[in-house]
Amino acid sequence: MADVIGQVQICPDVFLLTLRADEIAEAASPGQFCMVEVRSHGDMDPLLRRPLSIHRVVGGGEIEFLYRVVGHGTYLLSQHCPGDRLYVLGPLGHGFQIVPGCPAILVGGGLGSAPLLFLAEELARDMVTVILGAPTKEELLCVEQFTAIGHQVLLATEDGSMGRHGLVTDVLSEVLSHGPDPRSCIFTCGPWPMMRAVYDMAHKRGLSCQVSLEARMACGIGLCLGCAVRRQDGQGYLHVCTEGPVFDAERVSWEPRQ
Ligand SMILES: Cc1cc2nc3c(=O)[nH]c(=O)nc-3n(C[C@H](O)[C@H](O)[C@H](O)COP(=O)(O)OP(=O)(O)OC[C@H]3O[C@@H](n4cnc5c(N)ncnc54)[C@H](O)[C@@H]3O)c2cc1C
Ligand code: FES
Repeated sequence: MADVIGQVQICPDVFLLTLRADEIAEAASPGQFCMVEVRSHGDMDPLLRRPLSIHRVVGGGEIEFLYRVVGHGTYLLSQHCPGDRLYVLGPLGHGFQIVPGCPAILVGGGLGSAPLLFLAEELARDMVTVILGAPTKEELLCVEQFTAIGHQVLLATEDGSMGRHGLVTDVLSEVLSHGPDPRSCIFTCGPWPMMRAVYDMAHKRGLSCQVSLEARMACGIGLCLGCAVRRQDGQGYLHVCTEGPVFDAERVSWEPRQ
């Protein structure tokens, strides 16, 4: 059981949930996720927990989740207050593989910033460029937190209200046009078409690229087989909960989402 310590609305529909969960905080690494109970004590609905990436681990055994209310489960989660207790299973899955000493480019679209902040903190002493994008400046998330770590932060908004007027991938293209260090690794999370475009750019330049994927998840531990995505080599499927959620982008079939 984890104690709810905080529940803060960051912008319309987006919340930051803080839980006290010593063992998860101790074991977690960037890119891993938890299956979080969303229902209230005594309710049976919904039965299934919801997968959320670990946004940050903070001192004293606390973990944070940054999430958008998109349906029934996340709405119920947003109603929990300090003092409530939730069943949380985690940390689960395989997170980002950090290659010490190699420059990193982090690319987050919208809520895709959620797992990247924990990674940016782990990479605090490395050379890191963070590129964040969203439709409007109100939807750009965690800009201050990434900046506070000391990384270079580049922004894009589709309406031009902050940073470059355009897509996060326009900024990435510009960064890569300066001839990046060939050891650079790109880490990305966001909408599928964005990650596909990021992968294409990395692939063309022979750069390593790790993607954090989302899939509908019933169990989160390899039992239901509901989280399958196609492999790029045509040899069947990858299971996002146990083999991911972070994958080398070369392993994933980037055909339009099945
Ligand atoms: C490994 C992993 C990490 C995730 N991390 C985060 C996170 O840090 N922050 C965050 O806001 N969300 C995250 N998600 C997505 C989150 O799990 C879903 O938004 C949530 O389960 C929706 O539950 P719901 O009951 O509110 O919505 P539902 O009522 O179940 O669905 C509402 C809408 O959301 C879509 N949806 C539901 N679940 C998913 C999913 N897993 N992937 C894509 N679309 C979905 C449905 O198709 C539907 O259109 C993550 C998902 C995975 C698999
Ligand atoms: S979510 Fe059940 S096997 Fe992956």
